[in-house]
Amino acid sequence: MHTLTVNLGDRSYPIHIGQGLLASPSLLAPHIHGRQVLVVSNETVAPLYLEHVIALLADYDVDTVILPDGEQYKNLETLNTIYTALLEHRFNRGCTLAAVGGGVVGDITGFAAASYQRGVAFLQIPTTLLAQVDSSVGGKTGVNHPLGKNMIGAFHQPGCVLIDTDTLDTLDDRQLSAGLAEVVKYGLIHDADFFVWLEQNIEALKARDKQALSHAIARSCAIKAEVVAGDERESGARALLNLGHTFGHAIETGTGYGNWLHGEAVSAGMVMAADLSARHGWLSRQDVERTAALLRLAGLPVTPPAEMSERRFLDLMAVDKKSLDSGLRLILLRAIGTAEVTADFRPELLRATLNAAS
Ligand SMILES: NC(=O)c1ccc[n+]([C@@H]2O[C@H](COP(=O)([O-])OP(=O)(O)OC[C@H]3O[C@@H](n4cnc5c(N)ncnc54)[C@H](O)[C@@H]3O)[C@@H](O)[C@H]2O)c1
Ligand SMILES: [Zn+2]
Repeated sequence: MHTLTVNLGDRSYPIHIGQGLLASPSLLAPHIHGRQVLVVSNETVAPLYLEHVIALLADYDVDTVILPDGEQYKNLETLNTIYTALLEHRFNRGCTLAAVGGGVVGDITGFAAASYQRGVAFLQIPTTLLAQVDSSVGGKTGVNHPLGKNMIGAFHQPGCVLIDTDTLDTLDDRQLSAGLAEVVKYGLIHDADFFVWLEQNIEALKARDKQALSHAIARSCAIKAEVVAGDERESGARALLNLGHTFGHAIETGTGYGNWLHGEAVSAGMVMAADLSARHGWLSRQDVERTAALLRLAGLPVTPPAEMSERRFLDLMAVDKKSLDSGLRLILLRAIGTAEVTADFRPELLRATLNAAS
């Protein structure tokens, strides 16, 4: 088992990563406040893992809420069903919420915990690769509004993140690849050696080799933890975690939510960011090719769908939340392993990237 710490002063917390951790009650116990625990999962994950989690919590008064499965349910109405369960079962301020599932369950449950009685404890038990390397760490919680994704939310750090890599056994290949996009992102923004390790181990990761997956998850979480510890509320460096995401969000919205998975859209978006970096003379063409080659081997798309014209990209990018109050800011690469947030890119080169991609 690997254990990492997210260093945030008195809100610091551990991330435990390993096989079979859902059979290890001693890891959660120190982070459970009071006796009341509400376990939140969804209709897909609950039949697979809820029983294990309930067994972990044998010493507590446990209730459960099972949400419908899907990004389209990450909304205020679903959130309200969690509040209703908490109130019906008379949960007090000393209670703990536990999220068991992917990023959707984690984000909604985290926001319920951030807001119920002005904030109660919560635990993340992520079961998708994306949630294990990204959404369960860092304390961003929230739900979607019909007018924008993740627009209603709060920062609320979990007390513990428990990552049992065995849960990945039941994840389908497409979801696994989508998670790998975020793993590659960490190499690109922060760690050239990790990028090289990924090039050497991508086949093992695709084949779900547990040791390779554990290493990739631990390295990803360590980088995310470091970035978050340095900039919890995203006033600076945390924005680097959005590499490829401005293009990616445009693809997700432009193709209709759910057609492209988030990680797939981010994959194509990162290649576009690399291409734009190369057009500025920041990154070599060879490194753009390496990036695309690795993502392709990870089973991911590296170009946006044909229907995404330059015009469509620009319209959608203008409404991306990162650009609401200022000019468009993009994350570009200075090299593999080094990224920068900048509003100082050349618009004609951005148009060239958008045209080359479409
Ligand atoms: N909070 C953050 O910092 C942050 C970061 C990145 C993404 N997100 C959010 O995360 C969400 C995406 O997360 P996701 O990719 O995990 O999607 P998801 O939660 O929709 O999970 C993907 C699918 O896998 C299923 N699933 C989950 N675990 C499984 C398992 N072990 N075996 C089989 N099936 C399983 C789910 O039921 C779902 O159908 C988005 O809403 C995004 O906004 C948040
Ligand atoms: Zn992402």
